[in-house]
Amino acid sequence: MTMTTHRHNAPWWQTAVFYQIYPRSFQDSNGDGVGDLKGITSRLDYLSQFGVDALWISPFFKSPMRDFGYDISDYRAVDSLFGGMDDFRELLAAAHGRGIRVVIDLVVNHSSDEHPWFAEARSSRSNPKHDWYIWRPMNGPRRPNNWVSLFEQKSAWQPNPATGEWFLGTFTRNQPEFDWRNPELRKAIYDVARFWLDLGADGFRMDVATAYVKDDQFRSNPFKWNLSPDIFQEHIYDRNRPEVHGIFREFRAVAQSYPGDRVLIGETHGRDPALAASCHGSGDELHMAFNFEFLFSPWGARAFRERAERWYKFLPQGAWPNFTLSNHDQRRHYARYGKRDADARARVAAAMLLCLRGTPFLYYGEEIGMTCRRLGRAALRDPLGIATWPLSGYGRDPERTPMQWDDSPGAGFTSGTPWLPVNPDFPTRNVRAQMADPGSLWSWYAGLIRLRKAEPALALGSLTWLDAPPDVMAWTRELDGRSVSVYLNFGPRRRELAVRGGSALAAWSPTRGYGKGGPNRGDAVPASRRVLEGYGILIVGEGTR
Ligand code: NOJ
Repeated sequence: MTMTTHRHNAPWWQTAVFYQIYPRSFQDSNGDGVGDLKGITSRLDYLSQFGVDALWISPFFKSPMRDFGYDISDYRAVDSLFGGMDDFRELLAAAHGRGIRVVIDLVVNHSSDEHPWFAEARSSRSNPKHDWYIWRPMNGPRRPNNWVSLFEQKSAWQPNPATGEWFLGTFTRNQPEFDWRNPELRKAIYDVARFWLDLGADGFRMDVATAYVKDDQFRSNPFKWNLSPDIFQEHIYDRNRPEVHGIFREFRAVAQSYPGDRVLIGETHGRDPALAASCHGSGDELHMAFNFEFLFSPWGARAFRERAERWYKFLPQGAWPNFTLSNHDQRRHYARYGKRDADARARVAAAMLLCLRGTPFLYYGEEIGMTCRRLGRAALRDPLGIATWPLSGYGRDPERTPMQWDDSPGAGFTSGTPWLPVNPDFPTRNVRAQMADPGSLWSWYAGLIRLRKAEPALALGSLTWLDAPPDVMAWTRELDGRSVSVYLNFGPRRRELAVRGGSALAAWSPTRGYGKGGPNRGDAVPASRRVLEGYGILIVGEGTR
């Protein structure tokens, strides 16, 4: 493996640029309209050229696909839709050969109801696997409590006549939830983790990790006013129980028993950064817990800075931050922020994501500004979208449309009929066109990733906020006497501000474009007051590297 080890000996996942692939939508290799593992392998050269260091691949395991792979019926098999185990081995070897790590999705809060474990468990109360899942006795039609299935927007309790019990599914009814208090279940899951680590996976993104443990008294959640699909509940009893930290410590021990800094990245399923931060423990739980603050932030310098500051403050000593703007569950940020000045905002957002202190997670297609479009009822596939149509925009299909590689029919994604419609903007918005254009959003992203690699201060340096006028977010990263200062104007108006001296590392504004009209890369920037144009971006380096 030609993996770069940093001279500061930071684990690879602290300096890596991650790229999330939703495998159904990235690259189809066999014309069935659904992306697959061979397709991903065929695009590794692209990913390497773009500069990503690590992939997080959403589930590709055997599944009835009720929740598109987040409902697993065999944890040790690749679904035939995506290929086979040999395709995974080939993908892993080919990625590692290019210095790209591969993190896979571990979905172990629940299985599919078609998993043989659940078939056994539901067959009788005396079955040895019965207690691997959560059950409540059924005494009449009344559900045991008010817990809700998020994707069906109704009670999470489903009847199991064979045992006269209810089982729990807080996502869909086809995703029965494990009883993590059961030691045998825990062992079975750690064995699954070892299976993939033995194969060479570089770690796990852990689906809804803070949901593993439920209240031992099965109390109803209290009411909470909110308009998200959290269904007016504060999830303190069906998720986020303190006992989960003991499980994280056990997971950490499993990961640490392998060489190569295998990484555990938890999805803490919620918007609470304090909760996410607590999942790092004291260096003995998860390596990273997703910080979702930016996914729900309004646009604006102050809004983002407040969220970043809060996250840094909440993280326990020694924990490493991370940032993400888009994923497969939320509207793409190009759509969220792009009602006006979409392209300029996407560049400012990219500079923020790639220059803050913390591991950046990119979502496939954000590098070309893929956006979301409302889909008609007939096109919807996501159970949440179907359950809430047409009332809400919570369906997740719009952020999962096929990757736009080129302007050919099927956008270079498939030669068949894509499982979700390709966004109609693909003839103009696609990878091929943007790679050929040095002024494109793709080129801006790729340039920032190169800069992050060339400047260890951007990956590992300390962060100090700088005073800035309204709409401007400014900070300095410092490492070993080298500093990199970043000035981002989130608004359309010109702003005057004091900049630190040095040489320009990157600059952009809507009127001047990249490097045109200055400062050009390498130009001296005197310490002075200067104008940052609307949506202007300036990155200045000072001191020796
Ligand atoms: C969170 C995943 O990101 C989402 O896509 C999935 O539907 C749920 N967990 C349930 O597994």
